[in-house]
Amino acid sequence: MSDIKAITFNKNSFSSRAIYYTNKYKIPVKHEKLKEPYLEIAEESKLYANKDFLTNLYHKDQFSRRIANYQREKHLKKAIGFKSSISKRILDGTGGMGHDAFILALLGQEVTIVEKNIGLCILIEEAINNLPNMSYFNLAKDKITILNGDSREYLDQIQDFDVIYLDPMFNSTKNVARTKNLSFIDEYLRDYDNPLDDFLSTDYKRIVIKKELKAPYGNLTEPTVSFKGASIRFDVYTKGEKL
Ligand SMILES: C[S@@+](CC[C@H](N)C(=O)[O-])C[C@H]1O[C@@H](n2cnc3c(N)ncnc32)[C@H](O)[C@@H]1O
Repeated sequence: MSDIKAITFNKNSFSSRAIYYTNKYKIPVKHEKLKEPYLEIAEESKLYANKDFLTNLYHKDQFSRRIANYQREKHLKKAIGFKSSISKRILDGTGGMGHDAFILALLGQEVTIVEKNIGLCILIEEAINNLPNMSYFNLAKDKITILNGDSREYLDQIQDFDVIYLDPMFNSTKNVARTKNLSFIDEYLRDYDNPLDDFLSTDYKRIVIKKELKAPYGNLTEPTVSFKGASIRFDVYTKGEKL
């Protein structure tokens, strides 16, 4: 898997954040001879790769529309077994840009995000740090934990989570990227790790897998139930839990 080789910053006021990430992820700060992929800490932090860049600005990018309408995520809500009175513990084992995780946190769920890629972990942290100081954002921020690593490392803690949420890169045979961001991530990562089998073979309570609407089940068993939207579906696997 490709990952960032350096962190840079475009103003001295961002140096402390760059140093924080350097210490946390052991990636050097550099200003010269930068080679992609690298990450720039700025007002709008950017991940540079393949002569392109990715930003993750929750309140400004296209994702802001999803945030504004988070209560209308009816398929996602059904998939996790949403109850307004209960805050479920959710492990998002394929963090990506943290979008689905952030919607889940806005819905009041306790979300642990695990993402393998350091560049993407930093972009999630930057997105969350740069949210406007508004109470519903602050409540959601407090419900999120971001961890860098392979989510398989948490297989032995599976019973601690009410829901395992997985959205691996490609689950259809057509390899259709869903958005421009996902095309960028696909080219940047250059690997197709897919921990579904590993999670499905554990003693989980509930697993939710996000897929393209028409993606085949492949070698996976049929889900307990699927909730279908216009272009995606959520396959839900439960063991004993009521839907
Ligand atoms: C399609 S993206 C997820 C998008 C995410 N649901 C969102 O809303 O932003 C898939 C991500 O899963 C990550 N990934 C794949 N296998 C993983 C694993 N075993 N552990 C942690 N992250 C993994 C990849 O690095 C990639 O960033």
